[in-house]
Amino acid sequence: MAEQNREECAGKSSCSRSSCEGCPSHQGGNAKPDFHEDLNPYSKIKHVIGIVSGKGGVGKSFVTGQMASMLVKAGYKVGILDADITGPSIPKMYGVHGPCVGDERGTFPAVAEDGTKIMSINLILENEEDPVIWRGPVIAGAVKQFWTDIVWGELDYLFVDMPPGTGDVPLTVFQSLPVDGIVIVSSPQDLVKLIVKKAYNMAGMMNIPVLGLVENYSYLACPDCGKKISVFGESCIDEVAQELGLPVLGKLPISPDYAKKVDQGKAFEIEAPFDGIALRMLTALN
Ligand SMILES: Nc1ncnc2c1ncn2[C@@H]1O[C@H](COP(=O)(O)OP(=O)(O)OP(=O)(O)O)[C@@H](O)[C@H]1O
Ligand SMILES: [Mg+2]
Repeated sequence: MAEQNREECAGKSSCSRSSCEGCPSHQGGNAKPDFHEDLNPYSKIKHVIGIVSGKGGVGKSFVTGQMASMLVKAGYKVGILDADITGPSIPKMYGVHGPCVGDERGTFPAVAEDGTKIMSINLILENEEDPVIWRGPVIAGAVKQFWTDIVWGELDYLFVDMPPGTGDVPLTVFQSLPVDGIVIVSSPQDLVKLIVKKAYNMAGMMNIPVLGLVENYSYLACPDCGKKISVFGESCIDEVAQELGLPVLGKLPISPDYAKKVDQGKAFEIEAPFDGIALRMLTALN
């Protein structure tokens, strides 16, 4: 093959390579290199959904947990891959602890009280409070191993909780895992338009479908009169969604009860008010 390509490329003034190794043409024609990693052989995962945002702290991990829990309550087998290696928050949210054990098949995820399977760097570290101070490629390698080395068993949905931004980890996940689509999380500030669009454009460049938008911290319901207070300013999510042609999957309130449940490791007991379209859209993937 290499010889054949060298012959095909020979004489093209644009090619300055001394070897065909690493060249897309090496795979024949204009084929793009395939970076997809093989799933652990003892795992079978029907759908992979990424939860992303161009910005930190908007509630990606919270929304990941809530979407996962919505599907668990609907009777599906669900897992969460915590791809936030330097700031993992899923285990705490679900009240699970390591160390995860393994055998010759791979490492087994922790199983939360509601049956959700979870893998996170915090379930592997000797001490949960140890910081992870790794360079980008090592972090990306760990995320890939959560796909290749974890015995997930059979799952209908695997949610991938991403770190903030459009950096190394989302790039690795989009290239290495068969992501069905992403959900973009934002908060109700004007800056959000820019942030949502960054994530949206990245997905577009990677040919990953965007399933919809979730607005978190959308409002605070007054405990006395129920009036909705726009703590972070007026929502512009409908406007952004319309512009991008995407559904709004939910506008979730700021709730002290949510924060309390998360701190207790009982996030799965919350029933976040997603729009009915969220469940319909996710189950339609099946
Ligand atoms: N709607 C909400 N009401 C109350 N508390 C919330 C809500 N959403 C998230 N929180 C809390 O706010 C904190 C930040 O949320 P979360 O960790 O989900 O954000 P994130 O976008 O994943 O952050 P990071 O960018 O650091 O990964 C958490 O303690 C979470 O429990
Ligand atoms: Mg997070």
